[in-house]
Order: sequence, then C-alpha cells, then structure tokens
Amino acid sequence: MCGIIGFTGDCPAAPLLLEGLERLEYRGYDSAGVALLHRGRFLVSKTTERIGDLKAKTDKGRALKGSIGIGHTRWATHGGPSAENAHPHLSEDGRFAVVHNGIIENYADLKAELQRHGIEFSSETDTEVVPNLIAYYYKGNFLDAVLRAVGRLSGSYSLGILCCDYPDTLIAVRHFSPLIVGLGSESNFLASDVTALISHTKRVAYLEDGELAVLNPNHVEFYSSEGRPIHKESSFVNWDLAAAEKGGYNHFMMKEIMEQPRAVRETVEPRIKNGRVVFEDIGLDEERLKTFNKIAIVACGSAYHAGMVGKYVIEELLRLPVEIDLASEFRYRNPIIDHKTLVIVISQSGETADTLAALREAKARGAHILSIVNVVGSSIAKASHSLLYTWAGPEIAVATTKGYTTQVALLYLFAIWAADILSTAPKAQLEEMLEGLCRIPEAIEACLEERGRIKDMARRSCYIGSIFFIGRNIDYAVALEASLKLKEISYIHSEAYAAGELKHGTISLIEHGTTVIALAGFKPLADKLISNIKEVKARGAFVVACATEGNQEISNESDEVIYLPPVHPLLFPLVEVIPFQLYAYYVAVCKDCDVDKPRNLAKSVTVE
Ligand code: G6P
Repeated sequence: MCGIIGFTGDCPAAPLLLEGLERLEYRGYDSAGVALLHRGRFLVSKTTERIGDLKAKTDKGRALKGSIGIGHTRWATHGGPSAENAHPHLSEDGRFAVVHNGIIENYADLKAELQRHGIEFSSETDTEVVPNLIAYYYKGNFLDAVLRAVGRLSGSYSLGILCCDYPDTLIAVRHFSPLIVGLGSESNFLASDVTALISHTKRVAYLEDGELAVLNPNHVEFYSSEGRPIHKESSFVNWDLAAAEKGGYNHFMMKEIMEQPRAVRETVEPRIKNGRVVFEDIGLDEERLKTFNKIAIVACGSAYHAGMVGKYVIEELLRLPVEIDLASEFRYRNPIIDHKTLVIVISQSGETADTLAALREAKARGAHILSIVNVVGSSIAKASHSLLYTWAGPEIAVATTKGYTTQVALLYLFAIWAADILSTAPKAQLEEMLEGLCRIPEAIEACLEERGRIKDMARRSCYIGSIFFIGRNIDYAVALEASLKLKEISYIHSEAYAAGELKHGTISLIEHGTTVIALAGFKPLADKLISNIKEVKARGAFVVACATEGNQEISNESDEVIYLPPVHPLLFPLVEVIPFQLYAYYVAVCKDCDVDKPRNLAKSVTVE
C-alpha cells in the first residue's frame, strides 16, 4: 500500500505531484508529503491529514519551488501516522530524500548497524534506513550508491530517490511492490500506478522486480539489479482520464456501482463467439486441462468472496474438487498441490502481497497458475501461466464493486468454457447459462433502477448496531461479500453465516429487533432457508429477504422483501450482490462516513 510519485521535468513539480497523490490516495491516506529539490536543497512539506490539506498548506503546490520532486501518501505500518513518520524521509546528512511503498524486513538490523556508525534516526519507520544507507555508500555516484544500498535490503519496496548533487535526476527502484515509469515530453514520471499520471502521459514502462530506472527530463535509462543497462519496451494505456474520475457522482464507489452493467458486458461479450466461450491466448489447452485432478482458488477480501461463488459453480459444472483459501493462510499452510493442480488466483489490483506470495508458493510446487486480474501489467498478471483480465476499467473506491462482479462473471465463463471442453456438463445447460450470462448486464441495470428503495431501507437502518446476513450455497458466498461491504464502509458490525450454521452458536446473538438479511436466490435450497428464517423470527429478528420476483412464500415469512429480476438460478450472485452494494453505500453516506476511503483500510494491500 502507500502511493508514491516522482517527477522530473521542465515545469513546477509540486502541483503535478499533488495531483498525482490525490489519485493515489486510495492506496493509503493517513499522512502524506512531498519533497522538492530546488537549488541544491530539499523543500519538504508534510501533513497528517489528507492531500487536500497538503494542497492548502502549499497553495496547491505553488509555494514549493523546483521542477523535480517526489511525493507519498501513507498507509502506516511501522510507526503511527505522524509528521515524523510521514514520507519523504531524508538521510541524516540531508543529501538524499526517499519515498517508499512496501516493507523493509531487515530494517531493524540495518538501523542498528547505521546507528553504530553514529547515524541518528528521527522516525519509527522502516523506510528511514534507505536514505541513510544510500548516504553511507555514497562516494559521488548516485546510481552506484543506490545499487549498493538496495543490495542490502530485503522485503518489498518500490522507491523514488532524489540526491542534492543531481539536480535533474530521479531514481526509481522496484522490488515486489508496483512501480511504473511514465514517459512524457521533456518530463518523466514514476508512480505506483497509471491513474497518477494518465492526465500527463499514456506512454508507460513497467519495471520488473529488481529493476531500476534513472529518470532525467529528456531521457530514462533502465538497469538490472546488478547495474547492467537494459532495454525496456514502453506501452500505451488504453483508457483515459475520465475513467479515473468521478464523472458527476459524489463518490467513486457510486460511479463504479453504476458502471457494472458496462463492466460485466465488456468482460463477457468479447469472449463469446458463435455461442461458445473463447479465451484467446489463455495458454491452457484441452490436453493440459485434462491433467488437473483438483482446483485451488486463492485470494483476499472480496476477491476471495468472488472465488467462493466460483467454487460452487466450478464444482457443479466440472465435477472437480475445488478448494478455496485465503491467500494469507494458503501461503503458510504447506498446501497439498502439485502439477496436477490448477490454481486460480484472483486479484483486482494484481498486487496484493499475500496473493502474490501464494501464487509463488503454488508455482514453486508445480501447479499451473491461472490468474483473474483487473490491472494490466500488474505483478500477478506477469507471474501467471495463464491470465484472464476483467475488463472493469480502473477501480478507485477502496470498497470493490465492479471489480468483484467482473471477477465472478469471469469465473462463470471459465467454468462454462472448461466444462464445454471436458464435456462434464450437458451442452444444453452450458448454453442456457451462457445466454443467461449475456442477459446479466440488463438484470443488473434493473437492480440499479431500484436504488431509491434501497436508499429508503438504508435510511431506516443506518443506526442499527449489528446485522446478520444468511444464505446457503452461492447465496452464502454473496452473504460474505454483502456483509463485508457493509462493515468496511459503514462501520456497522456485520456477520455473514451459512444459514444452516447459525444455530450452532451465533443464533444466541439474535434478539428482539436484530436485523437478519436472508439471501434466498438459490432455489434448490429455498425451503431450507425458509426454515432458517423461521428460526430467527422465532427469536425476534427483523427479517429482510432477498428473492426473485414472485416468491410469495418468502414474502409471507419475512418482514420485508427485496425482489430481484429472474435470472438463471446459478447466476443469481451477479444480481443479488447489487442491492447490498447500494445498501452499504447509502448507509455509509447516511452516517457521513468517508465512503471511498474508509478508516484504516487501503485498496492495494502490498504488505503481508
Ligand atoms: C483490500 C481491499 C479489498 C480487496 C482486497 C483484495 O483488502 O480493501 O477491497 O478485496 O484488498 O484486493 P485485490 O486487489 O487482490 O483484489
């Protein structure tokens, strides 16, 4: 997490850095800072508030002179949010300034070593060792000193580095944390992601782990970790600034919720040709598919919840066992996987540290890696054998919406594609599902049109203390996501339970007036769910059910019903989640919460 940016060019740097930081704020936002190099000195400005405060303090950057600089927006790991801990960090001798995203795992040893050489530290961060280590190795050659210093670092880091003796030069280093170089005209950038520089250039070069870039206004040189010059191709970003802006909505989250019909359509339709799923260049053919004896899905957060839908659907259509793990558990549990395992890795950002580590673990054990990723050129995308992009466009709100639905849509496509190749499900069933999938964008639109009702429901319930979501089978998978959405942005305590499991303990929390949301889309288990609704009603719960239009029985048993348009029963998660994204959004707005940047969270979690 944390967002970093750097600029070297022929115009004032600070306004550009601040604009870029605003776009990176979703990565972490507990403090921020910039350092400009002007006439051989660093001008540093920091805040423990948001970027808006830094803009106010610096007259939108106009108060800070210099045409070269670095900036940072922080998600605290080592040391709380304070001015001392905010980046950029300077070496004790004032010669180097550094911004860092990631964690320097051996910082304590390095710090002790530098302290033994008499260097004093002023923050609690791991980062502060970096400028001091570079200063320690510096004998007049900036790049040499950086190479020697990074050779001593372990952990994950992307770095932007300035040196007082080099008035135009900015050095970028990438090691297990995202970093791109933006190539402009008489100006060049580094940034954690494309959104930070898309308004200035669409030509970018993606650094690989271990690589460095030396940026000057008119040229950029790339180096391997050993300091060998390397050639790097650049590529053009194929979306524009509008995709990364709010477009008239009050929040990115609402914009992204409303974009779902388009995002799902663009993810699904180009992959259907003549009534069949076609994955071009997936790198997985019939022969290889036949060798798998199980599938393991790994992901974090909402991507894990998307994977949970995938587990039910893939098992149903492929009749292959599907395990699902949180990436942070998978990577340390000595998983039983080998070359006969297909590991499906799901990640919107493609940079989540635990997910990436799980991928590497699986790869080392011989598994074939198929990743479902949104961000083009991300670390997970690059490290996979097979890759399917969700074409959702940039997602900025910390709470994912279109990222999740497009992941689920791709998992359906994958299941249908593989079942078709392996003939594990009747053709008619697969055709019916595929047709149903093509109609999902319309069904999502219909759900979105009902947002006024959801808003009313949110207003009535926004001061409740706790809420339960229950469901069975794929409805349970949706319950997990609906519950997470609500708690992460509205701070209401929320639990998701497999409906049949509630009575094994959690039902003791149900008392008079407790809200229970019962997800009843999965028809084969509708009767069982009704029994669970009766159980909680008998203990005084206020039950809101979510079902397909015309389900009278559910209506008789519940206090309120959210009706959804009829879709193929197995595809129901793609519409069922919509009202609860809206519900979480409206509750958070009603409680005056910071919808796009909920407390303590960050969108791209690049630490373990
Ligand atoms: C963070 C975000 C979640 C997201 C998770 C996984 O925790 O707050 O919204 O689901 O990371 O992110 P990924 O980019 O790997 O999908």
